Amino acid sequence: METNLNQVQARIESHIDELSTFTATPGKGTTRLTYSPEDLQARQYIKMKMEEYGLTVREDGFGNIFGKLEGSLKDAPSVLIGSHFDSVPNGGSYDGPAGVVAGLEVAALFAENKLTPKYPLEVIALVEEEGSRFGGGLMGSRGIVGLLDEEGFNRLKDKDGIYAVDAMKEIGLDPSLPKKRDPKTMKAYLELHIEQGPILEEKAIPIGVVEAIVGLTQLEVTVKGQAGHAGTTPMDRRADALVTAAKMIAEFPDLAESEGGGTVVTTGRLNVFPNGANVIPDRTVFTVDIRSGKEENVLNVIEKVKDLAVFYSKQGIEVSVEQLLYIQPKEMNKDIVSLLKRKSGELDIPKCSINSGAGHDAMVFSDFTNVGMLFIPSKDGLSHCPEEWSDSRHIANAVQVLFEAAKKLTEAE
Ligand code: GLV
Ligand code: MN
Ligand code: MN
Repeated sequence: METNLNQVQARIESHIDELSTFTATPGKGTTRLTYSPEDLQARQYIKMKMEEYGLTVREDGFGNIFGKLEGSLKDAPSVLIGSHFDSVPNGGSYDGPAGVVAGLEVAALFAENKLTPKYPLEVIALVEEEGSRFGGGLMGSRGIVGLLDEEGFNRLKDKDGIYAVDAMKEIGLDPSLPKKRDPKTMKAYLELHIEQGPILEEKAIPIGVVEAIVGLTQLEVTVKGQAGHAGTTPMDRRADALVTAAKMIAEFPDLAESEGGGTVVTTGRLNVFPNGANVIPDRTVFTVDIRSGKEENVLNVIEKVKDLAVFYSKQGIEVSVEQLLYIQPKEMNKDIVSLLKRKSGELDIPKCSINSGAGHDAMVFSDFTNVGMLFIPSKDGLSHCPEEWSDSRHIANAVQVLFEAAKKLTEAE
């Protein structure tokens, strides 16, 4: 079966270019928050392409998108392939979309080769993996497997107090559609993602077959103090919520370093209230993202952050910690890892094993179905920034590998 790689590559480039125009920050990277007008534009594009490629499109009660190619077996579980299409603020064009586009192009190859699989193939485009709007992250996949239920979803609000359910309706989505999916309807989940680090580029290897994904947690720390006048309140009479937050955050690098084992701790979001130049802040809310390949490291750092919260709760300051997300390190399915390696070999595409320091929807699915992931190189190892770039040729190579793997998985028992 001949694949015209140049054609696939050209289509990939056009999808990536098109999707990158759906941003709230043109010229300053991709900002595509879940249920925003840009989400709606990207969603319309993805659905249009799914239909063009002969897939039957549906959305669920979270707004996740599924494009299905029916199989010849009745009521058989699907081989899912895709990624997420939301972004971080001022992110790049590849984190997420590369995997959605790869899924679309695998479906295009099924259509071009007039293949009817035994088991259905479903291209999947997931919402809110980054957690940039509603916090925590991996929302679409957690919803599908039932780790986020209806009540949990109904409680979710963004930083402006807008409920996720209302934001959904605002762009015409229907939150009353089914949410959880029976794991028995899933045979496997495949995801292509950019590496978001420097390893593949440095080794000049176009494909990384992911073996495992780090464990991660996201905490939200709220510091409450007392607002007051910036000019008239003596320094020793203040309960400044931002100064306390700053002291805590400044301890995190040492905390990560002393934990060791490659543990990383990041505060990436900090909101200050009321956020007036001449008002002493009475509240700050910040995130603490903690990751390590060893669960023990993550658990230790969580305890240390909680200890800091107790330590700094004094003299009119109250610090509380809420856990928004907790996921153990996950291994990918061994058979799928072997299959992906074998197919790369057969296609003469050099590959190596790699672990992921980033979180992915694949880690959520891994407890419910057989999961495999491919990485492609990231230019200069950069991601979550406008400079993020990957070679469309590498995506096209990965599409070939995924196509071969998907053919096998949609045929075999
Ligand atoms: C997603 O990019 C994550 O690793 O948080
Ligand atoms: Mn990301
Ligand atoms: Mn991602």
